[in-house]
Amino acid sequence: MGPLSAPPCTQRITWKGLLLTASLLNFWNLPTTAQVTIEALPPKVSEGKDVLLLVHNLPQNLAGYIWYKGQLMDLYHYITSYVVDGQINIYGPAYTGRETVYSNASLLIQNVTREDAGSYTLHIIKRGDRTRGVTGYFTFNLYLETPKPSISSSNLNPREGMEAVILTCDPVAPDTSYLWWMNGQSLPMTHRLQLSETNRTLFLLGVTKYIAGPYECEIRNPVSASRSDPVTLNLLLKLPKPYITINNSKPRENKDVLAFTCEPKSENYTYTWWLNGQSLPVSPRVKRPIENRILILPSVTRNETGPYECEIRDGDGGMRSDPVTLNVLYGPDLPRIYPSFTYYRSGQNLDLSCFADSNPPAQYSWTINGKFQLSGQKLSISQITTKHRGLYACSVHNSATGKESSKSMTVEVSAPPGIGRLPLLNPI
Ligand SMILES: *[C@@H]1O[C@H](CO)[C@@H](O)[C@H](O)[C@H]1NC(C)=O
Ligand SMILES: *[C@@H]1O[C@H](CO)[C@@H](O)[C@H](O)[C@H]1NC(C)=O
Ligand SMILES: *[C@@H]1O[C@H](CO)[C@@H](O)[C@H](O)[C@H]1NC(C)=O
Ligand SMILES: *[C@@H]1O[C@H](CO)[C@@H](O)[C@H](O)[C@H]1NC(C)=O
Ligand SMILES: *[C@@H]1O[C@H](CO)[C@@H](O)[C@H](O)[C@H]1NC(C)=O
Ligand SMILES: *[C@@H]1O[C@H](CO)[C@@H](O)[C@H](O)[C@H]1NC(C)=O
Repeated sequence: MGPLSAPPCTQRITWKGLLLTASLLNFWNLPTTAQVTIEALPPKVSEGKDVLLLVHNLPQNLAGYIWYKGQLMDLYHYITSYVVDGQINIYGPAYTGRETVYSNASLLIQNVTREDAGSYTLHIIKRGDRTRGVTGYFTFNLYLETPKPSISSSNLNPREGMEAVILTCDPVAPDTSYLWWMNGQSLPMTHRLQLSETNRTLFLLGVTKYIAGPYECEIRNPVSASRSDPVTLNLLLKLPKPYITINNSKPRENKDVLAFTCEPKSENYTYTWWLNGQSLPVSPRVKRPIENRILILPSVTRNETGPYECEIRDGDGGMRSDPVTLNVLYGPDLPRIYPSFTYYRSGQNLDLSCFADSNPPAQYSWTINGKFQLSGQKLSISQITTKHRGLYACSVHNSATGKESSKSMTVEVSAPPGIGRLPLLNPI
């Protein structure tokens, strides 16, 4: 099927025109000849202006010519044609009302829009007898003047060394290539700078002052090029990672006053404190002299071991220290003795354990009736007899806290069955 044999889909193709061009179609598919060239006047056209697609070296003895938008020569892409006999213009679906074809085949496009960019095909039909006519087609690419691009940034105030920044060159334009400039020169080869496949997007991985810019992007097509205004990143000073110093690494419970200090010191930072992930102070006991950089705990309990963290902020962001956990020395608490029952029969084994909560672990010792028996948590006597009745005491001591405590219990041992209750009262 030829370009005009499809059913008309606009009013502009007249029956007369269709009949006329139908006869031209007989010359379709024959080899091209003329050294026709097409030129845009002016070569750079911007939106809203007019452009003339000037045809040079038009062969003599033509029957007509057809302009198509794009490279497909079908009805859908048919703009307009000129039939020499009768000087008739025919309009197709791709006609926008702004195209004029002249008798010398040149095409005027008025009020150019962005959509007008791209290729055009001129189909030339030579006059001849119906079987031996010659036809040719010529394509031309119309480029618009590139608009002035602009750079958009994912972040104009990146933190030095920390964040990736994405620069994008706008707008997206067809038939355009993108170039980038840094400090007025083409991009240096470094793994910190990466381009997207189209070069429209530039990734800055970990910005340092050496790659803060200024950046310019340029868009280019074969007829024009334009550069953006420069964009320089405003680098925020790198925040150091803060850390906590404590003036007592082994505080004693309810005894030692603790001073935490958040380092480093700078008038540029504000300081905040965290205990178990919650912002301090959670209790009025906590004092915070010197702009919060120092945290004073008048006392500490075993339940307040942390983790403690401090955070520095500089108005643009913050950074937290590693958590610090306290080693609180405490105890020993009042010991407990297991098992707690106190009545035994002669011949049973006595196995007592003592336990007192303490950090570091307490030292244990046992006395019976006030007499030192042994060191250690456990006291065992096998096959006890009535001789083992008495006051059993477990003493605990924590040399780190200097505290001690003790617990005692009275152990009763009953006489074995069959033996008199009191030997002296049962003389033989
Ligand atoms: C074709 O005609 C147009 C309009 O008259 C004119 O501007 C243009 O210069 C002509 N082209 C040539 C190659 O003579
Ligand atoms: C060009 O386009 C503008 C806006 O779309 C319109 O106002 C103007 O009339 C057009 N001019 C021509 C010559 O088509
Ligand atoms: C992207 O830029 C590089 C040079 O920086 C170039 O070699 C490459 O062809 C460009 N790619 C595109 C799609 O324009
Ligand atoms: C730690 O600092 C606090 C507050 O200044 C002070 O009361 C305490 O004595 C200090 N502790 C030590 C071990 O220096
Ligand atoms: C505080 O900020 C100023 C300017 O922002 C900077 O020059 C100075 O080095 C900073 N001081 C510290 C200790 O970081
Ligand atoms: C520590 O916490 C436990 C359980 O929450 C509580 O029973 C105990 O009394 C607390 N100890 C101190 C010394 O605050």
